[in-house]
Amino acid sequence: METHTSFFSRRQHLISALRGARVPAFLVTALPNVRYLSGFTGSNGALLITSERALLFTDPRYQTQAPQESDCDVKIAKLPLIKEAASWMKRLRLNLLGFEEKRISFEEYTSLKESAPGVRLKGLPDAIERLRMVKSMEEIATIRAAVRLNSIALEQALRHFRPSMTEIDLAAEIEYRMRRLGADGPSFETIVASGKRTALPHARPTDHHIQADQLLLIDVGANVAGYASDMTRTHAVGKLDSKRRRMYRAVLESQLAAIEATKEGVSCASVDGAARRVLRGFGMDNLFIHSTGHGLGLEIHEHPRIARREKTKLQAGMVITLEPGVYDEAVGGVRIEDTVVVTQNGCEVLTPTGKELIVL
Ligand code: GLY
Ligand code: MN
Ligand code: MN
Repeated sequence: METHTSFFSRRQHLISALRGARVPAFLVTALPNVRYLSGFTGSNGALLITSERALLFTDPRYQTQAPQESDCDVKIAKLPLIKEAASWMKRLRLNLLGFEEKRISFEEYTSLKESAPGVRLKGLPDAIERLRMVKSMEEIATIRAAVRLNSIALEQALRHFRPSMTEIDLAAEIEYRMRRLGADGPSFETIVASGKRTALPHARPTDHHIQADQLLLIDVGANVAGYASDMTRTHAVGKLDSKRRRMYRAVLESQLAAIEATKEGVSCASVDGAARRVLRGFGMDNLFIHSTGHGLGLEIHEHPRIARREKTKLQAGMVITLEPGVYDEAVGGVRIEDTVVVTQNGCEVLTPTGKELIVL
């Protein structure tokens, strides 16, 4: 469980990082970053941080909730939050402000420039996202619970599986199970795709009836106490032909190679390379059309990306997915995805679900 001490110490880390960039104050506008640094979970918030103060701006809907959740100095704004924050910048005599250049709307940015004309603005991309990459023990425990919960939900839902069910029926069954098991909700729109639709990496479930002797791809995640999980399993409904079974074997070997390559000090690109190399051996690397994985935490997609050109070195405590896949429009697709924690000597696979091809 996160405490006010953890929010305070995260802000201290940010302040130290800003000191290096000679920036005395920072305006946080991305809600997951506001949550990470203040504990506030509402849908409208901004945070102004200096070495002495942490001011949380929100609106009257949250006047009770915000002080309960956050140790910051809560300011209930009557004006738009940016304008309210700008008036505090003047009171605090700030002349230089760091801001989240990738996570501010054009309207907010314009309003900031107009309302705080005496303050020089310095865009600092990914300042907080970089801090969020390495998770605390508490965060890892929460993600572990989210991963476990979504694996159980999938297992329970599959017990109710019957061919001729629609993709939407099965997705709804999984999401219902997740809620019953204590999830806040799904961490992204559940993907259930069958037959050739498995070749769409981010397929939306349809009213298509799941047929026999086809692939069935399920990509599912739960949100637990704000933290995401993410897993994919591809199943056989009835018998699969040799082409599809070979696709499955290629992806499984590729995913196991990615797990094997994952450890502290290794670059994300080399983990991606390990997964791609196996698929090349099967002549299927051209069918692997996305990156090998991504960090996850308060958001489903976080830094680092496990991708070809990502030089970031893995650190113990990072939580990432490993999810190679192959997609052939004429045949279908296979993806296998686990959530893992990077350790000094390797990684711990959090996803408890087996990976041998399951025939439904
Ligand atoms: N569930 C989306 C993804 O695997 O990235
Ligand atoms: Mn996924
Ligand atoms: Mn994923």
